[in-house]
Amino acid sequence: MQIKDIQLSSPIIAAPLAGISNAAFRSLLYPLGAGLVVSEMISDKALLYHNRKTLDMTRTWEGEDPLAMQLFGHDVDSMVYGAQYLDTKTPCKIIDINMGCPVKKVLAAKAGSYLMQDVDYAYHLVKTIVENVNKPVSVKMRLGYDMKHINVIEMAKAMEAAGVAMIAIHGRTRSQLYSGQANWDYIYQVKTQVSIPVVGNGDITSVEDGLERLKHVDGIMIGRGLLSNPWLICQINAALNGQTIPMVTPMMKHDFLIELANRLIKIHGENVAIKEMRTYTAAMISGLPNNHAIKQQVNTIETQVEYHKAIDDYFTSLQPIF
Ligand SMILES: Cc1cc2nc3c(=O)[nH]c(=O)nc-3n(C[C@H](O)[C@H](O)[C@H](O)COP(=O)(O)O)c2cc1C
Repeated sequence: MQIKDIQLSSPIIAAPLAGISNAAFRSLLYPLGAGLVVSEMISDKALLYHNRKTLDMTRTWEGEDPLAMQLFGHDVDSMVYGAQYLDTKTPCKIIDINMGCPVKKVLAAKAGSYLMQDVDYAYHLVKTIVENVNKPVSVKMRLGYDMKHINVIEMAKAMEAAGVAMIAIHGRTRSQLYSGQANWDYIYQVKTQVSIPVVGNGDITSVEDGLERLKHVDGIMIGRGLLSNPWLICQINAALNGQTIPMVTPMMKHDFLIELANRLIKIHGENVAIKEMRTYTAAMISGLPNNHAIKQQVNTIETQVEYHKAIDDYFTSLQPIF
């Protein structure tokens, strides 16, 4: 898949996940074969006001290439400022605009999926951004604001006309949040209506899902599925290349968690990082035997040494089982 002059090594894209897709997590997905990785969403206004935490979110880990950084906001001036910041001050290759976030706080700022309600305004906003940056711009959207207003085809065409280089579509409306199943029929329809690459997103959790979706779209974007199995990326890549699908062992999960914790500590400090590891750990060990106690334990742990020990002990205890 090609996005303007950027050739992706794989059609598999790691989705933006707020609070999760930081540089530490993202950097571990490249060696697994991700064609592109998208950052968590970054506020245009917070960049404008030099918010320290937000500026930290624009930091990258060595070797994160190609990276897309995602911006959310509403006002043309601050969105252009934010896009130019990502364009000139970060090594990302693509600037992604968030038109999918359904969270109340984001909607209150008229950002995220709020923008799906007004195609003309979205066109004006995105066209102005495209005209004021050098890097390719992509847009991530939903099917529409709610079931009565499904306008993804119209919006996709407008984004293509605005000069967008790629669109990613999560097959739900804003009102569906994350409930029910993603509807890929609309995504497939969009693919027949625009010439730019179309990336489909929603509920991909297996090699079979990925292969099936890739028959109809240029690329697939995976979010939650990577939290419990980041190797889904290399498994789908292997299947695409006719190779044997690699097995995921508990030890691979152990090593991933330990390395992630080490990298997170480097970017967020021990205190914050070890708390953040709760989410990653719970997702990674879901489905593994006897995981209740370790989940509880990790929720109280505060230091790197304690975290390492707890993870080592848990995975060692699994060895007789696997
Ligand atoms: C915890 C969480 C955080 C998310 N953060 C973002 C975000 O920052 N930007 C965005 O465009 N979508 C965000 N999403 C949506 C995902 O990128 C993706 O569209 C959605 O989870 C469906 O894909 P999946 O079924 O593969 O997870 C988030 C979803 C979750 C569950």
